[in-house]
Amino acid sequence: MNIVLMGLPGTGKGTQAVILAEKFSIPHIATGDIFRENIEKATEMGRKAAQYIKAGELVPDEITCAMIEKRLEEPDTDNGFLLDGFPRTLVQAAALDSILENLGKELQGVICLQAPEEVLVERLSGRRVCSNCGTNYHIRFSPPEEGGICDLCGGELMQRDDDREETVRRRLQVNRGKTLELESYYREKDLLQQVDASPDPKTVTSKLLAIMERF
Ligand code: AP5
Ligand code: MG
Ligand code: ZN
Repeated sequence: MNIVLMGLPGTGKGTQAVILAEKFSIPHIATGDIFRENIEKATEMGRKAAQYIKAGELVPDEITCAMIEKRLEEPDTDNGFLLDGFPRTLVQAAALDSILENLGKELQGVICLQAPEEVLVERLSGRRVCSNCGTNYHIRFSPPEEGGICDLCGGELMQRDDDREETVRRRLQVNRGKTLELESYYREKDLLQQVDASPDPKTVTSKLLAIMERF
């Protein structure tokens, strides 16, 4: 099953993708996570991407597309994949089409998570991420049992650099129009499924599972 999970920052792509990828035994490929790993390891690509991410801007298409092309050639994607946060521009969508064509694959569906922007700002400004295993928390909506510590691995919870309120607003501004363009692109291909992501995470998961069972 080859799926794209898209939606504005904070709609819950990462939270849901972890659950769906495990359920369907397919790799969860998140461009944001790959960039952050590269920034941490100080690779050349990480150094190039860091300035854009910190400012809430998109990393240039050529860097992002080359990275995804390489990732989709890995053998663990043979039985499918769940893309989280790619594509984010029409150029990236066209690149994905041609990467998949070369690999003899196609998308089964594109799911777009949707929620009002006030909800997104609140989710992002309260997000905390485990510095060790990457699990997502929220100070109000899904707090850890013990303050500042990951329930799963005991790692320290951190706030993402780009989750400061002014950067959050910039990220929303940058992605708003592009997300609409992508929705039209995939609607025309009859691949788009829109999902209201404003209810609690479990409710959203059930809706997504119901859609994916039909793919
Ligand atoms: P990326 O890491 O992908 O960030 P994003 O798109 O801004 O999305 P987020 O990860 O912030 O949100 P999410 O939808 O995953 O929500 P989450 O589940 O965490 O990208 C970072 C940067 O990398 C970009 O700004 C860009 O610079 C660059 N980049 C990445 N991909 C790129 C591309 N293709 N092209 C160019 N540049 C690219 O949830 C958020 C919070 O809400 C959490 O605290 C969670 O616990 C909580 N929450 C989740 N669901 C619910 C719910 N249903 N109810 C209540 N709380 C919830
Ligand atoms: Mg994410
Ligand atoms: Zn952890």
